[in-house]
Amino acid sequence: MLDNIRLSSDETAVIILDQTKLPGKAEELRLTTAAEMREAIMTLQVRGAPAIGIFAAYALYVLAKSIPAKADFHRTLKEIKNSLNSTRPTAVNLSHALGRMMNAAKKAGKKRESVLKALGDECRQIQHEDVAVCRSISEYALTLVKDNWGIMTYCNAGPLATSRYGTALGGIFLGHERGYRFNVYCCETRPLMQGARLTAFELSEEGINTTLICDNMASRVMSEGRVQACFVGCDRVAANGDTANKIGTSMVAVLAKHYKIPFYVFCPTSTLDLNCKSGKDIIIETRDEAEIHTGYFRERLAPENESIKIYNPSFDVTPANLITAIVTENGIIKPPFEDSFKAIIRKKR
Ligand code: MRU
Repeated sequence: MLDNIRLSSDETAVIILDQTKLPGKAEELRLTTAAEMREAIMTLQVRGAPAIGIFAAYALYVLAKSIPAKADFHRTLKEIKNSLNSTRPTAVNLSHALGRMMNAAKKAGKKRESVLKALGDECRQIQHEDVAVCRSISEYALTLVKDNWGIMTYCNAGPLATSRYGTALGGIFLGHERGYRFNVYCCETRPLMQGARLTAFELSEEGINTTLICDNMASRVMSEGRVQACFVGCDRVAANGDTANKIGTSMVAVLAKHYKIPFYVFCPTSTLDLNCKSGKDIIIETRDEAEIHTGYFRERLAPENESIKIYNPSFDVTPANLITAIVTENGIIKPPFEDSFKAIIRKKR
């Protein structure tokens, strides 16, 4: 598996695998400035809810180290945090990781050296914990499936979107290691094709039986009896269980309900946002029109006619009533979700 985010050995840069170039090229980027780091998140060079959080934590540490001696250290640190936090609105993991970093800084006191030490420790800890969290989610996932099952997945919730294993794909990788033979149906995920470029790539590299389909084939594939479960990741879960994930996820959930196929959402407990009452409170990112009219096409496909409007919401909300269960590192939560969330967040693994 590819190493997607790490600190440079001298700790002056964050090194990422540029996910916009995959699967054609495995190109690393060495990021040192705030502008480069913001750009990396906004252009999806680093992407996937947990990975964005891990990256932002490392970015804050590296940028904190470069705050000039004569600047107001604590004020500048907060400005950098706010700037990173404003790059993408939907995944709660970004603000969650940055919140942890700022708490660690606060606890370390006023001295710059102690704050830097605390920030360095915390960003490593965030990545370290994510590995364990994904592993635990994967173990729970395996209790939900049987050998030879067809599993449909959407977007990319694999190792590239986390630190290792992944959330929705974690159980598939772990099961494969243990001899399960899954048939995974990857929806290509228009417009940025994370399913085709990243999920199909990650699964096939490990030798997992992978079938790539266009998003509008999901109903046909389910109607043919090829899918026994749907596995998706998520970017934010509201207190009532409504779940935001890549645009198109709710379409798969609606279909799964129709065909009576279980629809499972996988995420760390840090993705549960009890401050959002329902999906209506989740901010949905709207992205550039060019992703739709040109995107990964060789040339612009849609006519250049100004009377054609383009709308590009990047996420949608799957209503809680379409979700069979939400799988976290602390256990599997079944509806009604609202009552179980607080207990599951508190529970120790
Ligand atoms: O826009 P992206 O590629 O960052 O969107 C990613 C997704 O929607 C993933 O499914 C989600 O972040 C879960 S990642 C474990």
